[in-house]
Amino acid sequence: MKRELHRATARACANIALAKYWGKSDVEHNLPAVPSISLTLAEMVTETVVEPDASLAADAFELNGRPAGAKERARVTKMLDVVRARAGVETFARVSSRNSFPTASGLASSASGFAALAGAATAAYGVRASAGRISALARASSASAARSVFGGFVKLPAGKPGHATLAAKPLFGSEHWDVRLVVAVMDEGQKDVGSTDGMENSRRTSPLYDAWLAAAPKLTRTIERALAARDMERLGPAMEQSTIAFHACAMTSVPAVFYWKPATLAALATVRALRREGIGCYATMDAGPHVKVLCATKDAPRVRAALERTEGVLRTLLATPGPGLSVVRG
Ligand code: DP6
Repeated sequence: MKRELHRATARACANIALAKYWGKSDVEHNLPAVPSISLTLAEMVTETVVEPDASLAADAFELNGRPAGAKERARVTKMLDVVRARAGVETFARVSSRNSFPTASGLASSASGFAALAGAATAAYGVRASAGRISALARASSASAARSVFGGFVKLPAGKPGHATLAAKPLFGSEHWDVRLVVAVMDEGQKDVGSTDGMENSRRTSPLYDAWLAAAPKLTRTIERALAARDMERLGPAMEQSTIAFHACAMTSVPAVFYWKPATLAALATVRALRREGIGCYATMDAGPHVKVLCATKDAPRVRAALERTEGVLRTLLATPGPGLSVVRG
């Protein structure tokens, strides 16, 4: 059968983990060692176009209007090779990807990026794939990307070594809970140690890594139950413990990896002070210094104002629960 190849465009939103993924059970298949739960964010969108072109001698990849570096191109080609093998074709593609949020700010872009690429590539090469198959394809490139295929609140289970079809699962839609995420941006530079290297370093050298593996599933269960009950006072402390526990692994690895800046600690103090004033808000951080604060929608203006007054915070962004992947032909 001759495949019909055509241009396809996909949009996917970034996500933030409430229960963190940190560490792999299988590096080759990129399987997470712990389960994680995330919230998809409407305001942080990647749009990716994939256009197979028989005249190309290699894949071409443009990121935010500029030719991407060799490392980024290799990651894109790796996913396209999987899709081409499924389609039974060898045609290279022109790929262009654009983020609605600044890539260099150190805010997550690989999650929305690989989810959008998985959606656009399967459509462009005419490969029929369920959302679960697309999520597994995205996960093989970046595990957090598996979660961005779905909207709202999403779970990615831990993967046993060799479990190549592991995919994320939607838990609740974006309308489930009226919450906001206030992002306090500390630094506009690129991070020094990416999450892939940071978590491998933790696995190999941190004396706290085994304790993290033992604690993470229970924290994820607590977060899942609290989410079902829309219980911020139960979810928040478990979310903060999940974040601080994985950062403790990073800090106690060799060489030590510190993602926090003085402003990170200042923002955490602001969040605690807000709680003393009776506002139910809780913090989470990823492989960077930014503090992301979950709160009820009605409390978001006060949380935002307090973070903007915090020393070292450059600006804040407001994010809303968002939709899953969408793919259009052409
Ligand atoms: C701290 O998904 O970027 O953001 O699978 O190696 O690409 P790879 O890692 P990645 O790790 C994300 C780590 C985190 C926590 C999370 O999003 O769960």
